Amino acid sequence: MDPSFWHERWTARRIGFHEEKPNDLLMKHFARLDLSAGSRVFVPLCGKSRDLGWLLEQGFRVVGIELSPIAVEELFTELGVKPVIEEHGPLKLYSYEDLFVFVGDVFELMMDRLGPVDAVYDRAALVALPETMRKAYAAHLTRLTGAAPQLLISFDYDQTMADGPPFSVPRSEIGKLYGEAYEIERLESIAITGNLARRCTGSEEVWLLSRR
Ligand SMILES: C[S@@+](CC[C@H](N)C(=O)[O-])C[C@H]1O[C@@H](n2cnc3c(N)ncnc32)[C@H](O)[C@@H]1O
Repeated sequence: MDPSFWHERWTARRIGFHEEKPNDLLMKHFARLDLSAGSRVFVPLCGKSRDLGWLLEQGFRVVGIELSPIAVEELFTELGVKPVIEEHGPLKLYSYEDLFVFVGDVFELMMDRLGPVDAVYDRAALVALPETMRKAYAAHLTRLTGAAPQLLISFDYDQTMADGPPFSVPRSEIGKLYGEAYEIERLESIAITGNLARRCTGSEEVWLLSRR
């Protein structure tokens, strides 16, 4: 999916994926990662998600990456804080206390800039990408984070019923993408709700990926 697709979505305010409160499945299952306070959590393709604020409130350090500067500006404005902004090669880094958000393409983020992370939270990131990009994304994310444990939220529905994003990423594909590096446990599967439910039926699934 071309970066221009996402830039246009943010410019046109077509951001139906954005939730006005922290994600219920995040709040219910995040403790399964068994992290101690101060752990560093990486949130790829983070948008201006309220989940970042929730993670900070739980005492974690948070690092995200997001293509859209509009999203990142709004994220800090809505948190009511003024970030420090620095150039980092092809990326920009917005930071305030325990929150660090890179602006740019996740594929241009390398280990030396990201630094060590203890866990990954992927909501609406893997499923935002078409099948042609998912293999490269999963391999990059695994390498970039040293296969840090993940809480992953995905959808499983009949892709002929609706176009993505969000795309359907069934269990079999999650196994192919992450099975070599991770033990994969499904924590929950619930019926799809919200906008997507108007277009298809299927399930929203929560996965715990633990390093092998
Ligand atoms: C479906 S939204 C989900 C945002 C966020 N995770 C949430 O739950 O609200 C996907 C986000 O990924 C961003 N994005 C898409 N491709 C990207 C890339 N290659 N690198 C960084 N961000 C990207 C988009 O701008 C968009 O904000």
